[in-house]
Amino acid sequence: MTVSTVSIDSAFFLQAFSELAAIGRDPSGQGYQRLAWSEAEREAHRWFRDRAQQLGLTVWSDAAGNSFADLESQAHRPALAIGSHLDTVPYGGAYDGGYGVVGALATAEAIQRSGLKLARPLRICAFTDEEGPRFGTGLLGSKAVAGTLDMELVRRAQDRQGTTLKEAMARFDLDLEDLPSAAQTQPNFWGYIELHIEQGPRLEQRHIRTAAVTAITGIRQVSLHFVGKTNHAGTTPKPDRRNALRAAAETIARFSPWVDGQEELVANPGQITVHPNAANVVPGDVRLDWDVRSPDPIRLNTAVQHLMAVAEDVSRPFHITVESQIFHDVPPCPMHRDWVEAVQTAADRLQFSCDRLVSWAGHDAGVLGRVMPAAMIFIPSRAGVSHAPEEYSTDEAMLDGVQLLAQTAADLLTQEEKS
Ligand code: GLV
Ligand code: MN
Ligand code: MN
Repeated sequence: MTVSTVSIDSAFFLQAFSELAAIGRDPSGQGYQRLAWSEAEREAHRWFRDRAQQLGLTVWSDAAGNSFADLESQAHRPALAIGSHLDTVPYGGAYDGGYGVVGALATAEAIQRSGLKLARPLRICAFTDEEGPRFGTGLLGSKAVAGTLDMELVRRAQDRQGTTLKEAMARFDLDLEDLPSAAQTQPNFWGYIELHIEQGPRLEQRHIRTAAVTAITGIRQVSLHFVGKTNHAGTTPKPDRRNALRAAAETIARFSPWVDGQEELVANPGQITVHPNAANVVPGDVRLDWDVRSPDPIRLNTAVQHLMAVAEDVSRPFHITVESQIFHDVPPCPMHRDWVEAVQTAADRLQFSCDRLVSWAGHDAGVLGRVMPAAMIFIPSRAGVSHAPEEYSTDEAMLDGVQLLAQTAADLLTQEEKS
């Protein structure tokens, strides 16, 4: 294999990163509101396409609202894809997703400038709705490309204001029913590498500059719907109280310590909707949404089954019924062994320390990795904070990650075809 060296333009990366960081800030100054299908998220996509066009890349988008930019070469061969997402969670940070997209732009700039002879195209991806809190449809853009979207769930999706996903997409001239057609481009992807902040504390604590991700956690989000009887908070006799909030609270109190005692498993009670939500009313209707994660599919299954059983057990004495619905399901995904090695080899060449980590956050690489080779590069996150306005990584750490992505991509792009 020939050894090709590329060198990123730090000023280009930092300038582009600051441009993206100006889009979608919350007016309070507390983080970002680039939620999927918001005006701010779509503006970020327009910014990305303009920036890529300025580099002379071929810009296109698909039926899922994903944006792409190709550095053309050997167009008959499938492209090496790199990138991330441009949406944020509510009050999210500037780095989750945006870093990987801007890092991919800087990688394309470096590879283009290097004059290397590429064996295939390089494709930058900016995926739609990776995060999912608005419609419960996380990883939507990459699932559409992978062909693994559950159209029944997507058709039912609506936000808390009652806007359906179909209506939200229509505002940007996209038809929800066309989503499956995004998978038509999939054969044109060779594989995918995503650059991302770690979002946890391990690299910072270990003083390690980068990591090659070995596997991405599975995620199952479960909605528990407790139905009791709405009634007066003062006059209802104690034996007759069918308080759905109490059953939800007891589920949290019983299931959480069980999770604490398990290896390779986390579970988060993250969202609750109480009806009618007044102190002097016994609430008869409560929805409690959980996020359960494990890189081990058996542990994940066991935990979700146990959660549902606990909810039913604690509800029975209160004469409350429970219905469980899994509304987001992403199986665990190992990264491609050879591509993990490619990241490690590039890190060794750059003399960067490089850890091996499991990702406890979900990523588009975990969706695409089920249908094509995939790898991920992590850099340290300050204090391990993410999905919060305090999310931060230093410029030096970001530039390390971009240099590692550029080197890995250059190595893979100049590999001679085996076939
Ligand atoms: C996405 O960032 C997730 O891990 O929920
Ligand atoms: Mn992300
Ligand atoms: Mn995220």
